[in-house]
Amino acid sequence: MRATLMEVLDPARGEAMYTIEWLVDRVRQHLDGRHVGAVFVAEDDGEIVGHTIVRIEHDAARGTHGLFSTVYVVPTARRKSAAVSLLERGEAWLREHEMSEAATWTATTNVPLHELFARLGYSIVEESGEMVRLWKRF
Ligand SMILES: CC(C)(COP(=O)(O)OP(=O)(O)OC[C@H]1O[C@@H](n2cnc3c(N)ncnc32)[C@H](O)[C@@H]1OP(=O)(O)O)[C@@H](O)C(=O)NCCC(=O)NCCS
Repeated sequence: MRATLMEVLDPARGEAMYTIEWLVDRVRQHLDGRHVGAVFVAEDDGEIVGHTIVRIEHDAARGTHGLFSTVYVVPTARRKSAAVSLLERGEAWLREHEMSEAATWTATTNVPLHELFARLGYSIVEESGEMVRLWKRF
């Protein structure tokens, strides 16, 4: 998550935004029942090269749906479909949890993420400042 913030914002701002303790707890929330969620990792030769975090979200505007809170692949492992595999695994988990819609938020300027989610059938449904919500009905 820190690597994502450092890449998407800028290195100094991204690194300073959250402490490691806060970030570790954020992941644990998706594993210990504070969220109904899951963490999936992509491995290459025994090394973790990517992850996604998904959870069930409740939202006054859009009701109960699946949320990809983050997805990240290390630069050396990119453009080999790791992110597609992670998101497809997350969508399968959401279907197992009876979700029929999924979303993510990202910066308007994050072209790789827009292209990635568009390829999986997501489209922009909402804009809020510098962020957009991408949405898909299964
Ligand atoms: C976005 C990201 C997760 C993509 O990971 P990846 O494993 O390289 O993605 P994939 O190989 O599965 O790509 C699938 C498709 O997404 C699109 N895509 C991925 N990266 C892209 C890029 N840099 N530019 C344009 N399209 C891109 C392409 O359509 C690609 O298919 P193709 O390779 O056949 O053209 C990765 O670049 C990343 O970790 N970025 C930084 C973190 C980030 O921004 N996370 C989101 C925060 S909200």
